Amino acid sequence: MTDALRVVDITEEHLDSVWQVRARSFGPGGDKDEFRKSALGFIADGRYVGVAAGDEVVAAGRIWPFEQWWSGRRVPMAGVAGVIVAPEYRGRGVGSLLMRGVMQRAVEKGYPLSGLYPATTVLYRHLGYEFGGARYKFTFQSADLRVLGGKDVSVRRAGRADAQLFIELASKLHQARRSNGPLIWPLSEIESWLGDDDNFAYVADDGFVVYNWADGNLDIDELIAGSEATTRALLATVGSGASIAKSVNVFSAPYDPVHLLAEHEADGDARVGRWMLRLLDAPAAIAARGFAPVALEADLRLDDSEFAANTGDWRLSIADGSGALTPAAASADALRLGARGLAALYAGTPLATLRGAGLASGGSAAGDAALDAAFGGGSAYMLDFF
Ligand SMILES: CC(C)(COP(=O)(O)OP(=O)(O)OC[C@H]1O[C@@H](n2cnc3c(N)ncnc32)[C@H](O)[C@@H]1OP(=O)(O)O)[C@@H](O)C(=O)NCCC(=O)NCCS
Repeated sequence: MTDALRVVDITEEHLDSVWQVRARSFGPGGDKDEFRKSALGFIADGRYVGVAAGDEVVAAGRIWPFEQWWSGRRVPMAGVAGVIVAPEYRGRGVGSLLMRGVMQRAVEKGYPLSGLYPATTVLYRHLGYEFGGARYKFTFQSADLRVLGGKDVSVRRAGRADAQLFIELASKLHQARRSNGPLIWPLSEIESWLGDDDNFAYVADDGFVVYNWADGNLDIDELIAGSEATTRALLATVGSGASIAKSVNVFSAPYDPVHLLAEHEADGDARVGRWMLRLLDAPAAIAARGFAPVALEADLRLDDSEFAANTGDWRLSIADGSGALTPAAASADALRLGARGLAALYAGTPLATLRGAGLASGGSAAGDAALDAAFGGGSAYMLDFF
């Protein structure tokens, strides 16, 4: 049956069918006009890919044009979302055919990396994705945030016109902290996020906060602060809602300063949702990211069943916070990785974990320690679901 199927670009004419398959895949609801509007943006840019059987579209997936911070540098990342297959076509390779089309499109568009939130890991692992990091939601008592102070910091309401400023403030912080994982959204998305009346945004000289109501409590979607005083001031601004909202949910890194400032620890059942990563173009992905300030040379043998260009013998050189992957002669001592092992290593997963899961072999203990130091740092996180 899959022989008759082909990968296509989704067009405006397909959107009614895609909408129906979406409802059958993710459940009813949603705003069809909003869906159309957003879909047209993906279509205009060749970032909406489908699978057709004759004239009928039976599967679709789209690509967000993100950048992602890796050790303080911005790496273009194809964020895959809205992957759906019509129920009557599932379980016969259509999802895999679609994802190969999506990944190929991402390569053509020059993305060295791709990321996604998996509803099932199986499909994506077969294609070389592996867990890269997580999205954390911690719940604090609003009263603990209310008393954090920072009263000398002047904080003003922010809106749509501050989108570029927010990108600049976030960039400064992620560079300085050598962050791993957070996304940079397209400017137009940040503008509509800040223009949404349901979001409350405030800005200080070196930071900002965006929060909103969620089931009678408050959610902090993002808080960026370049100093202790601003961290305190922005948390206290949200915490000032304590008379009505008893809790504040914070989407943040697991090592965010809020944990060291609030009197009581975050609620024990923090929510953790994992996302997956894949290197589409290994040399470009290595060249684009930052590394810890260590120097190393390592022989790698990569086996990538989807992208032949990644497969082969490589020399990984890291120095002065930058890396390079260059073709090399085969070495019996090389560290051997498949696409999944490479993705997880890139995201800072210790090699002992990869060996324990059968995703790395060869190499040496001393080599592992050096690679762990180079790729390591703060564990990778994202603030947003997409
Ligand atoms: C998930 C979905 C896209 C898979 O499509 P599909 O056409 O059935 O996928 P394939 O036939 O290519 O399957 C590829 C592999 O994934 C596995 N797989 C597919 N769906 C799975 C599921 N729900 N749970 C576990 N494994 C699954 C298949 O068994 C196959 O692995 P195998 O070769 O080892 O057996 C489809 O079921 C769907 O649209 N679901 C609803 C929406 C959704 O969850 N989308 C994913 C959002 S991240």
